[in-house]
Amino acid sequence: MSGRILTIAQQKGGSGKTTLAAHLAVALAKRSGEPVAILDVDPQGSLGTWYEAREESLGEDNTGLEFRTASGWGARREARSLAKSHGYVLVDTPPKTDSDAKPAIDAADFVIVPIQPTPVDLWATSQTIDLAAREDTPAMLVLNRVPPRASLTGEMADAILASGFDALASRLGNRTVFAAAMGKGVAVTEEAPSSKAAQEVESLIEELVSRIG
Ligand SMILES: Nc1ncnc2c1ncn2[C@@H]1O[C@H](COP(=O)(O)OP(=O)(O)OP(=O)(O)O)[C@@H](O)[C@H]1O
Ligand SMILES: [Mg+2]
Repeated sequence: MSGRILTIAQQKGGSGKTTLAAHLAVALAKRSGEPVAILDVDPQGSLGTWYEAREESLGEDNTGLEFRTASGWGARREARSLAKSHGYVLVDTPPKTDSDAKPAIDAADFVIVPIQPTPVDLWATSQTIDLAAREDTPAMLVLNRVPPRASLTGEMADAILASGFDALASRLGNRTVFAAAMGKGVAVTEEAPSSKAAQEVESLIEELVSRIG
């Protein structure tokens, strides 16, 4: 097996990297039926904390995911090693530091870049996109924490289009259930399967899989 390595990266802190990594992992495991691994390269360890909460909630043998950590260039090695035995490897990276995200972006088949719809977030995003371009890795933006009925979101969507960045049409709204589910070590598709948030995640996965296979 040679699974796909999806690295979630964004220099801007708090954009939703960890939330997206966890949600994509759970949804891809369910949809594909293949083994899925998550790799935490962020020393903050938020994805690891989510995974520990998941073990508590579902039982150690019932998380449906394999969890690893790595740092520095070990991230590239670990991601590639996991891809030999998993259909998908989701890599969560730290904010700010080029050096920490670089090996994970280098190893990736695709980089997924969560972005909140504000001008400041878009500025930070170009650095992440440039980094992916230097590593020859295709990058896709995902609008996250989109507020209901904000005219700024439309303006930002236009600005992203004008920037030439590749953005997925599916978006995730600003919904408290994302934060609540993360606290319990689950995803919104598990916590509240019929919620708007879960529908958004399902749409995102459909679009993502149609793009990456
Ligand atoms: N779609 C959403 N709706 C509501 N809250 C969200 C959403 N996405 C993320 N959050 C919340 O925003 C905060 C930041 O999210 P998260 O930790 O996933 O970002 P991050 O990019 O991993 O942060 P860091 O850069 O510190 O690693 C968290 O409190 C999370 O619960
Ligand atoms: Mg994080």
